[in-house]
Amino acid sequence: MMSDPDNGKPHIPVLIRPLIAAVSPVSGVWIDGTFGAGGYTRELLAAGADRVIGVDRDPLAFEMAESWASAYGDRIKMQLGTFSKLDEYASDLDGVVLDLGVSSMQLDLAERGFSFMRDGPLDMRMSQDGPSAADLCNTADEEELADIIYLYGEERASRRIARAIVAARPLTTTLQLAKIVEGCLPRAKPNQSHPATRTFQALRIAVNNEYGELAAGLMAAERALKPGGQLAVVTFHSVEDRMVKRFLQARSGNTANANRYAPEVAQITPAFRIEKRKAIGPDAQELDENPRSRSAKLRVAIRTDARAQDIDPADLGMPMKKQKRGR
Ligand SMILES: C[S@@+](CC[C@H](N)C(=O)[O-])C[C@H]1O[C@@H](n2cnc3c(N)ncnc32)[C@H](O)[C@@H]1O
Repeated sequence: MMSDPDNGKPHIPVLIRPLIAAVSPVSGVWIDGTFGAGGYTRELLAAGADRVIGVDRDPLAFEMAESWASAYGDRIKMQLGTFSKLDEYASDLDGVVLDLGVSSMQLDLAERGFSFMRDGPLDMRMSQDGPSAADLCNTADEEELADIIYLYGEERASRRIARAIVAARPLTTTLQLAKIVEGCLPRAKPNQSHPATRTFQALRIAVNNEYGELAAGLMAAERALKPGGQLAVVTFHSVEDRMVKRFLQARSGNTANANRYAPEVAQITPAFRIEKRKAIGPDAQELDENPRSRSAKLRVAIRTDARAQDIDPADLGMPMKKQKRGR
């Protein structure tokens, strides 16, 4: 099992036992769209996959895998890129897995700037490329920052925090931002999360365009899977799970629970079949072994032979930022 670079803690793949049980028997070619520490890839290979294409946008994931992945020969192919483009990497797939969010490897490395517990540059870029969280905090206007913190972090004090960020510019480090947020909110009670949790989540989602990636990744998986191919997605918070749930409901023709005031959706030929409507969560053993699995949810669906179609991300309940007014 792989260790985190700074503290030797093993990376524990989340919901991997129920995932493998849900997609078994496993065979053929799979894409692991969130390779990370390679935990899912190795379990898929052990369960019977012939080959896994491991996709990750973070070059560090593949540097860390160098020491062990060569033992699998050409059964593992590593592909640097985003899962929104997974249909450009392969087609006719037997399966696609997505395990969303950051890896413990990324979170635990102070220099990646994801954690409000460790001082480091305010970075948060999974791909180590493009504008960082510091760039966003230092250049976005107050209204846009407030929007991001409210929509992506569900933080009610978003306006107060945005105002404090703008007043404190330039921001450079994670602890500087954590302190600014702490100054805007009441002290956390025991068992409550750190006051900066929601703001850090919001900025991370914005910096990495996580919701846009998810919507595009689900559509790309629909295009890349062969009939009978399986899609398994593990999410970590309610917005992600809502997007996956609505996508699968819409694409499996199941709109039974849809809002009765919503406009009627034209009947489609289902592109997916869902066997278990309810999301699968961690059991007591996993919760005990890995507290990070607390909010994880797994959804699985099987591709039919219907033609792939695009879907409007707004129909998935993706939070949409206001368009910037012209200046
Ligand atoms: C939760 S970790 C995956 C852990 C992995 N399942 C394991 O068992 O080792 C998520 C990984 O996905 C990557 N990632 C997140 N969003 C991505 C995207 N849109 N495209 C490609 N990789 C992404 C992150 O860089 C991170 O390495």
